[in-house]
Amino acid sequence: MGPKAVQKRVAELREQVSHHNYRYHVLDDPEVSDAEYDRLFDELERLEDEHPQLVTPDSPTQRVGAAPSDRFRKVEHLTPMGSLEKVTSDETLAKWADDVRKRLDSDEPVAYVTEPKIDGSAVSLVYEDGILARGATRGDGERGEDVTPNLRTIDAIPLRMRSPDAEAPPAVLEVRGEVYFPLSAFNRLNERLAGEGKKTAPNPRNAGAGSLRQLDPRITAERELSIWAYGVGRADGLELETQWEILEWLRERGFRTNPHARLHESLESVARECEEWERRRIDLDYEIDGIVIKVASLDQQRRLGALHGRPRWARAFKWAPMTAQTKLLKIHVRVGRTGALNPWARLEPVEVGGVTVSQATLHNEEDLNRKDIRQGDTVIVQRAGDVIPQVVGPVLPHAKGAKPFRMPKRCPLCGAEIVKPEGEVMHRCPNSACPSRGLESLINWVMAAADIEGVGEQFVRRLWDLGLLRSIPDLYRLTKEQLAELEGYGDISAQNAVDAIEASKRIPFSRVLFGLNIPDVGWVTAQNLARHFGSVDALLAARQEDVEEVEGIGPDRAESIATWFADEKNRALVEDLRGLGIRLELDETDRPVEGPLTGRSYVITGTLERWSREEAKAALEAKGAKVTDSVSKKTSGLVVGESPGSKLEKARRAGVEIIDEPAFEKLVS
Ligand code: IVH
Repeated sequence: MGPKAVQKRVAELREQVSHHNYRYHVLDDPEVSDAEYDRLFDELERLEDEHPQLVTPDSPTQRVGAAPSDRFRKVEHLTPMGSLEKVTSDETLAKWADDVRKRLDSDEPVAYVTEPKIDGSAVSLVYEDGILARGATRGDGERGEDVTPNLRTIDAIPLRMRSPDAEAPPAVLEVRGEVYFPLSAFNRLNERLAGEGKKTAPNPRNAGAGSLRQLDPRITAERELSIWAYGVGRADGLELETQWEILEWLRERGFRTNPHARLHESLESVARECEEWERRRIDLDYEIDGIVIKVASLDQQRRLGALHGRPRWARAFKWAPMTAQTKLLKIHVRVGRTGALNPWARLEPVEVGGVTVSQATLHNEEDLNRKDIRQGDTVIVQRAGDVIPQVVGPVLPHAKGAKPFRMPKRCPLCGAEIVKPEGEVMHRCPNSACPSRGLESLINWVMAAADIEGVGEQFVRRLWDLGLLRSIPDLYRLTKEQLAELEGYGDISAQNAVDAIEASKRIPFSRVLFGLNIPDVGWVTAQNLARHFGSVDALLAARQEDVEEVEGIGPDRAESIATWFADEKNRALVEDLRGLGIRLELDETDRPVEGPLTGRSYVITGTLERWSREEAKAALEAKGAKVTDSVSKKTSGLVVGESPGSKLEKARRAGVEIIDEPAFEKLVS
């Protein structure tokens, strides 16, 4: 290539790499696979290596350029970065809206923009003639710290603004936004730190702020931070009329703006939005601590002005805190239906987000010790939506004399020696006849697998305590007379229960498999096993290699499944069920449907807005598709909802088609 041709190719590649960056980070709609992107990037890097005179600071290859420094320079913001006054209820929200209306002309309509209030670090990005010249933290609002080299490492921050229709960029533009640590990346960081035996980061907010203030930008680059841009400070020559237009303008110029921003014509709609996000916030891949409400019109904003750096035209709607502090009274251990030992905490009752909490899960020994939670400590408890409350961590110092937690050496119920299989985090009671397992598996059988009407957890616990139930077959041997003797049961209700139990013998084979509590066999695997083997006899005869052939099952799971079916006690259980007339073969209720998607297989990840996991799976299967748990080269498509996690990355790397909710709906319609 001659010098002219090289120059042209470098310009072309920069254009393409920036374009694909924009598709990926801002529009969340990549056009090319990661491999294709890497190819373009590598070619650019190679040409720049060979022709260093062509390197410019805004080239996408120059994100991690600067050498570590020993401190940050203070810089003055071009316009001060204010803060937000908060409202905490519909009443205080309405009071603010009244005040806004009073200050404006009486009959003027007021529209609002709402945006999630990201719990990260506010930054200011100054672009000169479209090139990122400087980036700073908020600091005290007047002066912040110059963290430009670190901000440059964030892929979602453009080094050069886009110029739609070749427009000239503003001479000076200050973009405001919130840098944050995506929860998926934060969890990856903590897993890595824990793996290296290092102290884990307590929360994404501090970890994000800390990453921004690293003296070595290479460390910031490893942290996978991101940004949501939400406004402009100084903006020479920019003529826009509303906050909504600002967001659109920013997005078109290459900045990542939050897709959950909304424009509202009425305050009722604003209030509904705030209420809705209190529930939905847990679906996001970042933490939000409220909703920011802004008067939409920039003219109205100017007329309303600010008081002590707090704009009168905006408020932060904050929910009741979802965390609280309380005393951890005792650490207990529960044995689950598959034998896994789950530590849990009995707490001094405390109100968290409007609900009284007296227990919380502690996951497993590793997690407990990583967080260094000890019996007697004052702890921070967090509730996230409908999910079981969690203990986030201790409030140091520890309670006097408190010792780190150790799992019991023997099962608290049957006394069997506890095992911890290599590479697993859970401790297990290996005794498949352990009473606790029996109880939990019975509950799982009546509630989830067989889903027997009128027979639930209370029923099982009661009969368990009376010694009438010890296993799934026992359930099918219960008589009307036995039940009628129980308090609260008459002849009719006893008969109904017995009938419902009898009818549950005809549940599909895949449900039976799910209900047997084979380790690591959930819904999807149970169905794949049922379809692959067709009958319990085929499974009883299967070796590990045979099980490995099932869609989505790797060697480890295949081994534990084959081992389960080889165990004498489990084989006896199967024979007992057979004798009782329980369905142990595939029939039409389980057989996949033939349809337009026959032969294709999909994986679902994240939370869809309008479909539960089960519904989405059923819709795909109704078209003949298979649904599996893990992404592989054989996967035809990954259906992606909110907060997708690592499967999305894996799919992108494998070049698997990414299907968002609208595309999914088209697929199954
Ligand atoms: S607008 C005058 N919009 O909240 C300040 N702020 O207390 C106008 N924040 O320091 C700020 N998300 O760090 C705005 N969508 C959003 C925001 C947001 C998070 C933070 C920001 C600011 C603090 C205000």
